[in-house]
Amino acid sequence: MFEIKHEIDLQSEHEGLIIGVFDKPEKFSGILAKFDEAFANHLTELTKSGDLSAKLKSITKVHSFGKISSKRIWFVGLGKEKDLSFNQLKKAFGKVFKEVKTNKLSEAAIYLDSFITEKLDHLDAAHALSEAFSLSTYEFAGYKQKSNEPEKRLETLFIYSDYAAKEEVLASLHIGYAFGKGTNTARTLVNTPGNLLTATDMAVYAKELAEKYQFELEILDKQDIEKLGMGAFLAVNQGSDEPPKMIVLKYQGKDVWTDVIGLVGKGITFDTGGYSIKTKAGIVGMKTDMGGAAAVLGAMEIIGELRPEQNVVAVIPSTDNMISGGAFKPDDVITSMSGKTIEVLNTDAEGRLVLADAITYAKHHGAEYLIDAATLTGGVITALGVNTTGAMTNHEFLYEQVLEAAMEAGEQMWQLPLFESEKERVRSSKVADLNNSPGSEGHAIVAGAFIGEFAEDTPWVHLDIAGTATTSKAHELGPAGATGVMVRTLALFVERFEPIK
Ligand code: BES
Ligand code: ZN
Ligand code: ZN
Repeated sequence: MFEIKHEIDLQSEHEGLIIGVFDKPEKFSGILAKFDEAFANHLTELTKSGDLSAKLKSITKVHSFGKISSKRIWFVGLGKEKDLSFNQLKKAFGKVFKEVKTNKLSEAAIYLDSFITEKLDHLDAAHALSEAFSLSTYEFAGYKQKSNEPEKRLETLFIYSDYAAKEEVLASLHIGYAFGKGTNTARTLVNTPGNLLTATDMAVYAKELAEKYQFELEILDKQDIEKLGMGAFLAVNQGSDEPPKMIVLKYQGKDVWTDVIGLVGKGITFDTGGYSIKTKAGIVGMKTDMGGAAAVLGAMEIIGELRPEQNVVAVIPSTDNMISGGAFKPDDVITSMSGKTIEVLNTDAEGRLVLADAITYAKHHGAEYLIDAATLTGGVITALGVNTTGAMTNHEFLYEQVLEAAMEAGEQMWQLPLFESEKERVRSSKVADLNNSPGSEGHAIVAGAFIGEFAEDTPWVHLDIAGTATTSKAHELGPAGATGVMVRTLALFVERFEPIK
């Protein structure tokens, strides 16, 4: 895929060449000056006239008409050198790679050294490049009948760099690519419809991942789940013909199984709402209700690839939420694995029920820190919109580490409060220890508070991705549809994690 080359020159022959330009290139220097010369100073003219813009993320395609050996150049505007951030660079790369993709080239080249700033070195740029490349060119294959014509796709991207340590550049490319690939895995899982991704299918996928990366794997089937007394998880599955699966993956990067991070992802493969049934408009799209599970699996792929010195247990409760004669109902009282009883007031508040038992089970496997990711509530969309993940915590230091990872990954996150008043609301049932839906006021917070009852004293961060797991608009780093949100945040969090003493 990526091939490193030294010394770009006018004779470098490619179908397309990608070069970064900073504001204001009144006069080109270095290799760009040579290109300008070959173009009889027309590049300078184009900048003066504004046709070749250095504005951040502006892309200008220039045909070479034989003046240089490459057929065309894409100039990528990078704005002011001192202002360029890592995440902006990724987006600029994403934009140009999307263009290259629509041109259906089989190979192209990029001049890495033209993207370097004082703050961002060759290795940062290589990471940004490969992550952006894999993310921006992602496509969900879908299920339309295909023509027999072979698709032309970019097979090789040549990377020109004079940076001496070629191995280091290759290592950075590998890291960035792993982040992109893990995210794309999550996207594909989320884009896959519920009839083609059941809990059993999810377990099969987890098994493949475990085999590839030597994770320890445990798949609990319905009998095991019953034996362990996971009554909350079972209640959600009760109306379904599809058996539930509790999926556990363990990655041990330290000599001893301590400071274990538990990653817990909501894996509802389709959410009808149950007897508290969704509207005919609200039910469409509910194949994406396993976005949390996908985020955890995507992060595990990155962890498997990059093998940080950390211990991680991933726990995914997976089932659909269906309706039948045997389905659970409002007013039912169920007993969770923790022993806490729950009065079901709304069968559509099923995510918190499956997560309750998954969190308990993650602790059972030694998790000392917990992060859950879930497409949990419409309420988080009302509160924060569709571009920001809602977070809640019982431990500010742990949250800070998650937030830092999110900022580095370029994923927006905002904390919602967890006050005693809301904890009291989930404890307000007259007949059980908890109720799963004490009314719609602030229900993103109430849902988080409910999950917190099961984290208890274990440091925990909850991530509500109902708004961010999908997008209706294509963006620099991907198409419309599943975003793979929180994959990179979770993986970076794990990589950087410092145990709290
Ligand atoms: N899966 C939904 C949340 C959701 C909504 C995800 C929109 C993605 C987009 C969740 O299970 C749910 O139905 N939540 C209810 C909770 C309510 C009944 C307390 C909601 O948000 O309306
Ligand atoms: Zn629901
Ligand atoms: Zn749901």
